[in-house]
Amino acid sequence: MTQENPFLRFSRVPEPELMEEKEQVEAYAKANFEETHDSIVRSLLNHLPPRFIPASVLDLGAGPGDMTGRLLNQFPNSHLTALDGSLSMIAHNKSYVSKLLPNASVEWLSTKLQEFIPVSSYELIFSNSLLHHLSDPFDFWSAIQRSSDENSFLFICDLLRPTSFQLAKNLVDVYAMGENEILRNDFYNSLLASYTLDEVEAMLRTLRLDHKLKLDQITDRHWICYSRQLN
Ligand SMILES: C[S@@+](CC[C@H](N)C(=O)[O-])C[C@H]1O[C@@H](n2cnc3c(N)ncnc32)[C@H](O)[C@@H]1O
Repeated sequence: MTQENPFLRFSRVPEPELMEEKEQVEAYAKANFEETHDSIVRSLLNHLPPRFIPASVLDLGAGPGDMTGRLLNQFPNSHLTALDGSLSMIAHNKSYVSKLLPNASVEWLSTKLQEFIPVSSYELIFSNSLLHHLSDPFDFWSAIQRSSDENSFLFICDLLRPTSFQLAKNLVDVYAMGENEILRNDFYNSLLASYTLDEVEAMLRTLRLDHKLKLDQITDRHWICYSRQLN
């Protein structure tokens, strides 16, 4: 039997792009992301330029709605576009957010980001836990570039690939304790599909975005990438 070398990080194991299965959407929507999502939003607020109130927000890969609702709570007067390529996810997002915030200004798009042609750029572009789903990561960065201009603020958060399969299992046990098997399985697959900081850094360098965006690891399983503030 081959032993896993904890110092040799395994190669990325891609997972399907869209989350379309009904059970998968329900498991994700019901999961307890309170602490994680709260800390991601706090991190976004900590990195925004002072007094930055976006008139337009794009939530890329919006999912079932918890994150969309949190963004709208922070920016109640903004117009938000929630985009997800999965019909069932965007339907869940619409029903959840309309009940939570009936007066919010939201447009729901069931569109793959590869096919998304924005009418104009967004002042805030937010994405959580999407990049690792994509077969070609440059589809993600192209959509970001198409949706932004020099005044847009970008904030991206995603999972970090652990150094071993065992560490991925440990993370599932620690952070998805008590969740159902579908969610635990999706979380494990997402950890294996996610990128290392070196890989994300290489993407930024290739696209010459490294002088515009900063990359930080924020937890044992997350990184953030956000617009550098111009002085
Ligand atoms: C892990 S979920 C994250 C959802 C949400 N951002 C959150 O933080 O709760 C990733 C979402 O990205 C969507 N997605 C994956 N690939 C996509 C693509 N190519 N275009 C648009 N959405 C995509 C999936 O359908 C899924 O809803």
